[in-house]
Amino acid sequence: MATVPLASAVLRRLEGKVALITGGAGGIGEATARLFSNHGAKVVIADLQDDKGHSICQELPKSSASYVHCDATKEEDIETAVNTAVSTYGKLDIMINNAGISGANKTNILENTLSEFQQVVNVNLVGVFLGTKHAARVMIPARRGSIINTASIAGNIGGTMNHAYTSSKHAVVGLTRNTAVELGPFGIRVNCVSPYIVLTPMSKKYLELDDDGILGFYSNLKGTNLLPKDVAEANLYLGSDESKYVSGHDLAVDGGCSVVNNGFCVFGRSV
Ligand SMILES: NC(=O)c1ccc[n+]([C@@H]2O[C@H](COP(=O)([O-])OP(=O)(O)OC[C@H]3O[C@@H](n4cnc5c(N)ncnc54)[C@H](O)[C@@H]3O)[C@@H](O)[C@H]2O)c1
Repeated sequence: MATVPLASAVLRRLEGKVALITGGAGGIGEATARLFSNHGAKVVIADLQDDKGHSICQELPKSSASYVHCDATKEEDIETAVNTAVSTYGKLDIMINNAGISGANKTNILENTLSEFQQVVNVNLVGVFLGTKHAARVMIPARRGSIINTASIAGNIGGTMNHAYTSSKHAVVGLTRNTAVELGPFGIRVNCVSPYIVLTPMSKKYLELDDDGILGFYSNLKGTNLLPKDVAEANLYLGSDESKYVSGHDLAVDGGCSVVNNGFCVFGRSV
């Protein structure tokens, strides 16, 4: 009997599913769009970067990806993006509320302006609220769906980012839990992922790093760096049926960074 080589027996874990990804034209969102497409999903990229969004779609298999211009802070844009997924591909199975901004690298609250604070909260939190609301609008009648929000280690611990970003990401974790409770009875799961620093356009600008920037400096796990694709793999798990009973969960993708206080740690650092 002929045996199937392992390499060709790759499982397409999202076959038949439709996913909408805000912020899908860059960084973690782009990696998620590409990985989801590789796993058989139809993908709608919703972003502000029109040229980049269209060119990513052209690189993905024909008729499997669409781009829609969308400012995640505008309800009519989010509404249109969700409607586009449904009208183009017939349904929405997975909503990734990923669009986010860092805000300025100012750690002194006296230098933080109200408008800067509000802008970060608007994209990082209000955008997630709007995305969840409109995904729920079409998922509730279908009695199924998976909503995945991009939070951060800054959503769990203090002192890693500016006040607006940290506040917004803590709120994303809270919104994830609250909506998981409300939407669970409709068969809809809501989870978030909380990455450590990932080398993307956002982190490169915030931390003033080049393409070879070393991000492992504070991390607990040594010997590897966190890449956009690693966060996309967490999204893949939460979007697939393999996580069918996982809801209200905050999946840390941080190499254990958020569970240790390096100033009060009994383990040596000799390795
Ligand atoms: N890079 C990191 O170190 C890191 C760590 C933890 C969490 N995150 C989070 O991951 C998410 C993605 O970040 P990234 O690092 O990939 O950033 P990125 O800047 O590389 O990509 C973000 C994408 O979102 C888009 N975007 C920005 N504002 C938008 C808006 N109002 N409407 C629609 N799209 C918008 C951008 O055009 C871009 O394509 C964010 O929520 C971020 O907070 C990033």
